[in-house]
Amino acid sequence: MAHSKKKIGLIGGGQIGGNLALLAVQKQLGDVILYDIPAAEGLVKGKALDINQLSAVDGYDCRVTGTTDWKDVAGADVVIITAGVPRKPGMTREDLLDVNLKIMRDVAANIKQHCPDAFVINVANPLDAMVYALQKISGLPSNKVVGMAGVLDTSRFKFFIAEALNTSIRDVEALVLGGHGDDMVPLVRHSTVGGVPLTQLIAKDKLDAIIDRTRKGGAELVGLYKTGSAYFAPAASSISMAESFLLDRKRVLPAAAMLNGEYGINGVFFGVPVQIGAGGVEKIHTVELNEAEKAELARSYDSVKKTVESVKL
Ligand code: LMR
Repeated sequence: MAHSKKKIGLIGGGQIGGNLALLAVQKQLGDVILYDIPAAEGLVKGKALDINQLSAVDGYDCRVTGTTDWKDVAGADVVIITAGVPRKPGMTREDLLDVNLKIMRDVAANIKQHCPDAFVINVANPLDAMVYALQKISGLPSNKVVGMAGVLDTSRFKFFIAEALNTSIRDVEALVLGGHGDDMVPLVRHSTVGGVPLTQLIAKDKLDAIIDRTRKGGAELVGLYKTGSAYFAPAASSISMAESFLLDRKRVLPAAAMLNGEYGINGVFFGVPVQIGAGGVEKIHTVELNEAEKAELARSYDSVKKTVESVKL
């Protein structure tokens, strides 16, 4: 039986949106609709054309369409939201709440109208609060809505470990739990390199520095770019989640998922390992934590909760 091509809606034609479009077609995940508001029409049409013109080099047949019309996004299998304002040096992600919530209200309402069956991945900040707003406004089933950051934070953590050890990243197993903020929880005790516990390989002071750098990973890039935030790793992270859904890979990835009692948390999106397959979030995994780790996670949850409580829907 011939498979029909999947449709991937990318909301926001900025730096992450462009990278998402390129990765999606290079991985041949489906045809891409790159949407932005009318003021950015040239940007999305230009990026679409530019990417389509490299398809002959790679020999793939997925196409990108740039549009300012939500009707073109209708029926998408996956929607990835990057629309919104990035932070600048000196800002916290929470400083973006008001401006990005305004944008999210419109995006979520359009998703409700045009893509009610999609698996939706949010990248906009402050991430955990924005994914909460997205789900509440769109009314999509909570297992079809996730926030991207756990994959990004975990990828940063793994990279810093591999770099410190001058070892292949392929053998680094690590996980970051919690909200996408400065008190996220890189789980050192559960991390291994080729099966060897991380704590045997890296001294405590160096590990503490890696944890700190992971927690401030986004801010480090904001400081370097000066006019915006990270865009390569967030795009790759989102695509890994989209791919797991579209190809029913059933990968276990850290994502901001709606918790219903897991980790003692209810009704809030929070970063935990989840299985993503054709059913969306198919399973939520609970990691056994010691008292110190529980306390760190509680601190991270408190910050997420505070921001979520200030969301006016
Ligand atoms: C990131 O972690 O790179 C993003 O959340 C962007 C930011 O503002 O840090």
